[in-house]
Amino acid sequence: MKDLFGQALLDYQNGQYTEDIITSTSISDDDILPLPYLFRSFKDMPKLEQKALKLAKGRILDVGCGTGCHSLCLQEKGLNVKAIDISKGAIVVCKLRGILNAEVKHLLDETETFDTILLLMNGTGIFQELSQVTKYLTHLKSLLKPNGQILIDSSDIKYMYEDDDGGFWMDAHANYYGELDYFLKYKGKEESPMKWLYLDFDTLKLACETVGFKCEIILEGAHFDYLARLC
Ligand SMILES: C[S@@+](CC[C@H](N)C(=O)[O-])C[C@H]1O[C@@H](n2cnc3c(N)ncnc32)[C@H](O)[C@@H]1O
Repeated sequence: MKDLFGQALLDYQNGQYTEDIITSTSISDDDILPLPYLFRSFKDMPKLEQKALKLAKGRILDVGCGTGCHSLCLQEKGLNVKAIDISKGAIVVCKLRGILNAEVKHLLDETETFDTILLLMNGTGIFQELSQVTKYLTHLKSLLKPNGQILIDSSDIKYMYEDDDGGFWMDAHANYYGELDYFLKYKGKEESPMKWLYLDFDTLKLACETVGFKCEIILEGAHFDYLARLC
């Protein structure tokens, strides 16, 4: 990984914002990911994220924290938060923004326990593929203190396969439709392709049942997105 994402966050943090990140996927063309959005404050967050922050309690783990926008809100409320991300640049930014406990760490390498675990901005993306969901959920379960909760958001992206006549062009023999290849460009450089998973709620719920998690929808967004609570 070249960590172009982290480099972009660092440029913004250091006052060197000249261009945004460009993303695309195996089923969609180039799209702009505005850097300021990754530094959003509570008032600019989607309702799903605001709800997750209101429900977070006890010792909290922010997985895939990015610039630490969620961690910062929680820390400012006096809560005990640990922020982790695989991007070195993102963790440097978190520290520059004043997050007291931020570490470069892959979710599967985390071993401490928490009352609330947050995975936000399509948190299921981190699982990468449907075949890995059980492994990630089992690990997340091992990180929960008694009566702990996981707050995770995702979207049912079936709508992205809809054609102009209202039909769907999904290949019935292909993998699960939420499994995408994800491409990122920044300042003319290309990141190595990544896998990114969107999960519809029923599929997430089914996977949760196999590892003994109760899974409920807390809030639905305006565009097939939802916030779920696992406990
Ligand atoms: C879409 S960004 C979301 C950032 C932040 N949560 C937000 O809402 O702005 C996903 C983040 O997850 C991080 N990430 C991806 N896989 C990870 C893993 N296995 N463990 C920890 N962080 C991961 C990426 O580096 C990236 O910063």
